[in-house]
Amino acid sequence: MNIPTVKLNNNLTIPQIGLGLWQVTNQEDFNKAFKSAYDEGYRMFDTAQFYRNEQYLGLAIQKYKINRSDLFITTKIAVNNFGFKKTIKSFKESLAKLNTDYIDLILLHFPVSVLRKKSYLALEEIYSKKEALSIGVSNYTIRHLEDLFKYAQIVPVINQVELHVFLQQPELIIYCKEHQIAVEAYSPLAHGLKMENDIITKLALKYHKTYAQIMLRFLVQLDLIVIPKSITPKRIKENFNIFDFKIDESDMDELKSLNKNLRTCWNPTLVP
Ligand SMILES: NC(=O)c1ccc[n+]([C@@H]2O[C@H](COP(=O)([O-])OP(=O)(O)OC[C@H]3O[C@@H](n4cnc5c(N)ncnc54)[C@H](OP(=O)(O)O)[C@@H]3O)[C@@H](O)[C@H]2O)c1
Repeated sequence: MNIPTVKLNNNLTIPQIGLGLWQVTNQEDFNKAFKSAYDEGYRMFDTAQFYRNEQYLGLAIQKYKINRSDLFITTKIAVNNFGFKKTIKSFKESLAKLNTDYIDLILLHFPVSVLRKKSYLALEEIYSKKEALSIGVSNYTIRHLEDLFKYAQIVPVINQVELHVFLQQPELIIYCKEHQIAVEAYSPLAHGLKMENDIITKLALKYHKTYAQIMLRFLVQLDLIVIPKSITPKRIKENFNIFDFKIDESDMDELKSLNKNLRTCWNPTLVP
């Protein structure tokens, strides 16, 4: 199957679905998840310095003899590596761990106050040397993006934020669209918390799909990029099989009514 892609503001493309890798904490689980995902058709993998598993991805790519150019790799600068010099240094360490000479997409993991400007300038330098093909941010609110526009020479291609049916952030989506920033939805399954909403269960029955597939398809129909995490081969396959059906407009509206600002991860809204 051809994976749908999203065009970025620098004309490169990113697969609309990728495998999230937070909390994959040993090489054995990592290899199993990576191999099932690759065989299923996943080509985008979302790691981070903070996840301490970049080296597992580097080793899995070697083990399964995957062509680097077949993959879209995202990693993120950890909060404790912010600052111009530390961002550059830690980026080089990420390259070494991932056993590659370029990253498809490097993100600032969080809008750390004060230091985020220097770190973004470092990403611009990395980008100018083509060591990262795209640069972006994560967990940025509209306020943080407005601040970034005061100093950035390069518009981030992506803002990766927590986004799922229970935390829809419609204003942020509109703002990003207006500024040609693609939105990537992390924790698209709301971190797998209590998957027992009546409306989603009803729609799963109606479309002959699973609860998780309805949650993911909802986001795909909003033109978002999704990165569900799983180490379970059956779920990895299930999460990928969301491109063979369409949720009707009226059902999309019902899903939109489930927004309740539920955050399952860290909250950037109070960061100055
Ligand atoms: N930028 C950031 O600050 C940030 C923050 C959080 C996450 N992320 C990224 O986004 C990715 C996804 O977010 P997430 O890991 O927080 O949560 P998620 O993808 O919303 O949910 C993952 C949880 O759901 C379970 N699951 C997966 N598929 C399922 C299915 N089909 N049915 C039932 N349960 C299922 C997984 O279990 P099993 O693994 O046991 O199958 C896991 O416990 C992360 O891995 C990471 O790459 C980024």
